[in-house]
Amino acid sequence: MNRDEALRWLREEDPADLEELWARADAVRRERVGDTVHLRGLVEISNRCVRRCAYCGIWAGNRTLVRYRMTAGEIIACAREAVALGYGTVVLQAGEDYGLACDWLAGLLRRIKAETPLAVTLSLGERPAEELAAWRDAGADRYLLRFETSDLALYRRIHPPVVGRPSDRLALLRRLAALGYEVGSGVMVGIPGQSYDSLADDIALFAALDLDMVGVGPFIPHPATPLGRGELAPAPPAEQVPNTEAMTCKVVALARLACPDANIPATTALATIDPARGYETGLTRGANVIMPNLTPRRYRALYEIYPGKASPRDAAAERRRPPSECLAAIGRSPGAGPGGRRRIR
Ligand code: 5AD
Repeated sequence: MNRDEALRWLREEDPADLEELWARADAVRRERVGDTVHLRGLVEISNRCVRRCAYCGIWAGNRTLVRYRMTAGEIIACAREAVALGYGTVVLQAGEDYGLACDWLAGLLRRIKAETPLAVTLSLGERPAEELAAWRDAGADRYLLRFETSDLALYRRIHPPVVGRPSDRLALLRRLAALGYEVGSGVMVGIPGQSYDSLADDIALFAALDLDMVGVGPFIPHPATPLGRGELAPAPPAEQVPNTEAMTCKVVALARLACPDANIPATTALATIDPARGYETGLTRGANVIMPNLTPRRYRALYEIYPGKASPRDAAAERRRPPSECLAAIGRSPGAGPGGRRRIR
């Protein structure tokens, strides 16, 4: 899967031709990571954030949002729930919140690793290298940090750095790998100003970074953000990537072809724009992971990085219908154990 081939698929619109892409991605998925679907329990441990990302609903500029930070006890209870549900991994995600102190989190990680069999994934933003090292020492297994777009000019427009601290997510991803983390990254699809060419570059970068996990979802405008208010101009019509389900699936499928043995989720954002079939569509076009939300109900609505993420209907559906039933509908079964990347050479 070279860059130009990816670009051709991204521009392909004939549904009959696209069937070939879906079939290829599904075949590589089955051959390389099998029919089981790993479930990762997502716990959104804090919605506090120092960053001003122009796309994200919990950006620091959202002054009306009530902010929360979960206690260690609450987080441990969620980890236990993940165990009870048979999940092999808990994902601790937050805004870039320095109130989540390094030593406090290290202690919490040691407890989770001592008291449960879970793999622990962190998704806490651009934290200093010493903290990432301390958390790895404390037992964290994986880290998620999307580079969002490989177009540096676009990245700077949507992702202003903290004053005096340049944002270099690619350097951080390499650092994480050197520390022994399994490393996940990814992009949003359909950011205003995102071109087909840059998206083809993104896919090539997934492979170049040798990612262990690749997360891809549609950009969903949030009204309380600069991007949601239309403050950034789109690319010219022939160049602008749409934030559709079909385009997102193309990127999921191409990510599978670019990174055959990576863990690739059918993301909540994909299921948000297609509540009826989003997960199944992703899982049959290259994905092999779902990240059910285990955040306590009272916090969930406050973690709306995009609208609809925490809709009561979704939450209820997730609780009511075990993922195993959704999976059975497409002939797949939940994976057992931590479900880390198994490299196949
Ligand atoms: N629409 C879609 N995805 C978003 N994210 C943040 N804001 C939005 C949005 N408005 C994604 C980013 C981030 C991940 C945690 O959520 O890619 O890395």
